[in-house]
Amino acid sequence: MKLAVIFGGISSEHDISCLSAASILRNLDKSKYEIHAVGITREGRWYYLPECDADAIESGAWENRNDLVPALLPPDRSIHGLVLLREGETEFVRLDCVFPVLHGVGGEDGTMQGVLELAGIPYVGCGVAASANTMDKSLTKKVVEGTGVRQARYYLALACDFACNPEGVVRTAAEQLGSFPVFVKPCSQGSSVGVAKANNMLELAEGLTEAFKMDSKVLVEEFIDGHEVECAVLGNEHPQASTVGEIAPTQEFYTFDAKYKDESSRLYIPAHITGEQLETVRQDALRVYTALGCRGLSRVDFFVTHDGGEVVFNELNAIPGFTSISMYPKLFDYEGIRYPELLDRLISLALE
Ligand code: DAL
Ligand code: MG
Repeated sequence: MKLAVIFGGISSEHDISCLSAASILRNLDKSKYEIHAVGITREGRWYYLPECDADAIESGAWENRNDLVPALLPPDRSIHGLVLLREGETEFVRLDCVFPVLHGVGGEDGTMQGVLELAGIPYVGCGVAASANTMDKSLTKKVVEGTGVRQARYYLALACDFACNPEGVVRTAAEQLGSFPVFVKPCSQGSSVGVAKANNMLELAEGLTEAFKMDSKVLVEEFIDGHEVECAVLGNEHPQASTVGEIAPTQEFYTFDAKYKDESSRLYIPAHITGEQLETVRQDALRVYTALGCRGLSRVDFFVTHDGGEVVFNELNAIPGFTSISMYPKLFDYEGIRYPELLDRLISLALE
């Protein structure tokens, strides 16, 4: 089977994507797949890598290789694959499946999925609408509101209001949420990029100012005092939920650095929660996954409150981190599904 792994991309999670892709390339069963690696630079240029060099992809050095071939993936079903623009000639690579290992904007938000739909190429993971709805935290909130699953209360702040009346927006957000601290989150960023905890009006104003540099919609959310737990979901019409893992960050919250740079952030599998809480997380994860119309995979993140042990939905990641230390593959490993087999299953689901 001809499989393309697409990685990199224009989002702030470019580097994470490279780590995820390197890990996936190392774990794909080479006897089953003819693997084609395609890297997208931060500027959005597509390159075909004649050699799938996982080390160079991991370190970011792939961009400096001198054998890169400019590539396109046209939305044309007669091509059904890649067009390589070699000097003086054009080469076509037909593809049976694409694994978009891209996080964030331009990869996990439905845009790449739209290109692949138009090209008629099966791909791993959620479709256009589910990707778009899960990428935008305010749209996710709206869908989850209808499921009965508990989520943090929130106020949606808009750039147009903040531009003409910043004090008014800060005051309304603080009034609606009732108490500090609160979290400020740009609606369409992943990996905690632009997320800030605000302990008072001044910090809320600062957090909003920073967040509006990244997005025109910003959530101000009730602070949930709990520990973060995560559940991996796999499947299409009949998805299965893994056991639940727990993040024990050493920093104040699970920031970008804590996620990828701070090796002292620990994962516990299974999480240190009661059997009943674990079952609630799994059932809620499946409800959220189904309500959002997810396919293939997602990691669904929750808090379990310190006071009362309540399970609160946080967010869903349609293309979760897939590095060797990432929760998604580790959760299924615990379930007895080893990394290469997990990749086989994801590819089979894409072809269903
Ligand atoms: N958005 C990152 C990759 C994650 O949540 O795993
Ligand atoms: Mg998360």
